[in-house]
Amino acid sequence: MPIEAIYGPDDFENSPRRSATAPAPGHPCANRAADLPMPSLEWTDEVARATAHLYERVKSVITPIEWPLLAPTIKAINELKGQRDAVILAHNYQTPEIFHCVADITGDSLQLAVEATKVKASTIIQCGVHFMAETSKILNPHKRVLIPDSRAGCSLASSITGADIRLLRERFPGVPVVAYVNTSADVKAEVDICCTSSNAVAVVESLNVPEVMFLPDQYLAKYVASKTDVKIIAWKGACEVHERFTGDELRAYREADPSVQIIAHPECPPDVLAEADFTGSTAHMINWVRNNRSKRVVMITECSMADNVKAELPDVEMVRPCNLCPHMKRITLAKILDSLLTLGEEVTIDPVIAEKARRPIERMIDLKN
Ligand code: 13P
Ligand code: SF4
Repeated sequence: MPIEAIYGPDDFENSPRRSATAPAPGHPCANRAADLPMPSLEWTDEVARATAHLYERVKSVITPIEWPLLAPTIKAINELKGQRDAVILAHNYQTPEIFHCVADITGDSLQLAVEATKVKASTIIQCGVHFMAETSKILNPHKRVLIPDSRAGCSLASSITGADIRLLRERFPGVPVVAYVNTSADVKAEVDICCTSSNAVAVVESLNVPEVMFLPDQYLAKYVASKTDVKIIAWKGACEVHERFTGDELRAYREADPSVQIIAHPECPPDVLAEADFTGSTAHMINWVRNNRSKRVVMITECSMADNVKAELPDVEMVRPCNLCPHMKRITLAKILDSLLTLGEEVTIDPVIAEKARRPIERMIDLKN
């Protein structure tokens, strides 16, 4: 059914003004004395030998002339991880040299949250955006969680604050609040349950109520509303990457090749999803390609994910309209190396907020299991 209403900060007189997408900077390094010396980043025969198996994984998307520029840093990162007792969690939108060559655990937002609860290492390096690192910290309050660049924000996370949730609750007393994980800890601390794009419909229906507030992505809200009879009150947030796709663009691909398969992320606007053959979270999209092995696939999501799938399945021709997430792209090999050397930038959350924010995340994870 169509969504009930979409609210935004302008609908509330007292709504605090929000800043641009970047969150407050993290803590670069609590203790510079812990710094390790910079390793050699020279391209040598030894580096070539030690990284040859990794190049095999990415050779369909990284050219031989690029590899000598990347391989020494990749080798250094993989060696330092052991020294620092660190594990690297990387989102599906990270670039292939991160995703395939240094990450220990990869996945969509839900998989990364679930895996974060199982980490044994004392340090987590989150290669993704700030809300993902916050989620890892909330689930691991006693571990050190680092993000290589704390300016890696998200247009969805910055579209809403905890104060906005309190104002919404006043306007809609008794209506439960479902928050997309693409929100700050401050917002999570105010809501009933979290969801990701892979479980949003199930989370909404799990509440067994006629009406919910679903925040902050208006397009994911519309997608959920199209799949359930639960009435949805939404928020005016949008992903700056997915809202740029258009139905016209998809129709043009289909006209150029009627056999093409189009798969899209539910953060896209409805006219885009109407043209797609399949809609799902980033992990569901990857699995769809693995299972279907279509000749030519148009991936309507962040561009690096198509590279990561291409590296794994070189026979599938990936058409990748190149919408990059500028926040995800702040994470680079050089910054990951720096995180390992300096133990920066550490993610910290007020323990009271973190405690309150843990409940809706755990409620979502428990629902899955
Ligand atoms: P998922 O990986 O959960 O599909 O989310 C996509 C996204 O935009 C994360 O920033
Ligand atoms: Fe946020 Fe969109 Fe970037 Fe994901 S792709 S981090 S939702 S801006």
